[in-house]
Amino acid sequence: MDTSSVIEVIRTPQEMAERAREIVERRLRIGLVPTMGYLHEGHLSLIRLLAGRCDLKAASIFVNPIQFAPGEDYTRYPRDEARDLELLRKEGIELIFAPDPVSMYPEDYQTFVEVEHLSKPLCGRHRPGHFRGVATIVLRLINLTRCSVMAFGLKDYQQTAVIRRMVKDLAATVELIFGETVREADGLAMSSRNVYLTPQQRRTAVCVPQSLNWAKRQVEQGIVDAEALKRGIAEIINRAGEVKVQYIEVVDPETLEVLLRITKAARILVAVYVGKTRLIDNIGVNV
Ligand code: PAF
Repeated sequence: MDTSSVIEVIRTPQEMAERAREIVERRLRIGLVPTMGYLHEGHLSLIRLLAGRCDLKAASIFVNPIQFAPGEDYTRYPRDEARDLELLRKEGIELIFAPDPVSMYPEDYQTFVEVEHLSKPLCGRHRPGHFRGVATIVLRLINLTRCSVMAFGLKDYQQTAVIRRMVKDLAATVELIFGETVREADGLAMSSRNVYLTPQQRRTAVCVPQSLNWAKRQVEQGIVDAEALKRGIAEIINRAGEVKVQYIEVVDPETLEVLLRITKAARILVAVYVGKTRLIDNIGVNV
């Protein structure tokens, strides 16, 4: 879709707040897709989910430094703003909030949002401070843009659980919508980080969705023992070579508590390293 719309790019939180005030005073509802840029079809599918739910479609592009732990890929995270702006324009986005880190986090910045329990396990265990950084930026984006609706992808499953909880606990008046993971033709979940993979690693990485699909089939055939499923997933991934499992977990889809047996809807989450690249994926299963 090319709506050839004129796109407005806002660079500072002050300007964003002022513009949002004008839009809301005109009783227009803003829909926001928050992103860290380097957009792919997964992001674009979230923009399409906003259709009919708001009057003005907006996106943010901001590689949020406080959600990266020391030593992670903050500085080398892929960036291509010109390409992103063009993709967003074609999707009918009218407003983009793309601030720089200094305007978002001046030297005296000191307020953070912590979603205590949901942030601890899974990715939270391996990425200290990550979800504190995510919850903080998402709340600030809600406040600055005054969006009525916000869309997130289910690939970052724990992130969606953390944000849902934060919005509920802090009574933020925003509707959250979640989009299914968009996958490459061979099943690999789309991610801006896939660009780090060498062609060989890219071929190998497909073991992740393959292992999750295998687990889903097992559950459908009555295998409900979480340990057996985790062992099977690990075997498939380990066979691929050059892929190291960081965690495999079977959890309750809302509380993220670890399940030993699957007796109702559950979520299987996986994090791996393919070479130096960390990839995550997940799948919903039910008996
Ligand atoms: O999922 C992401 O891209 C980021 O975590 C988000 C939600 C844009 C916050 O920086």
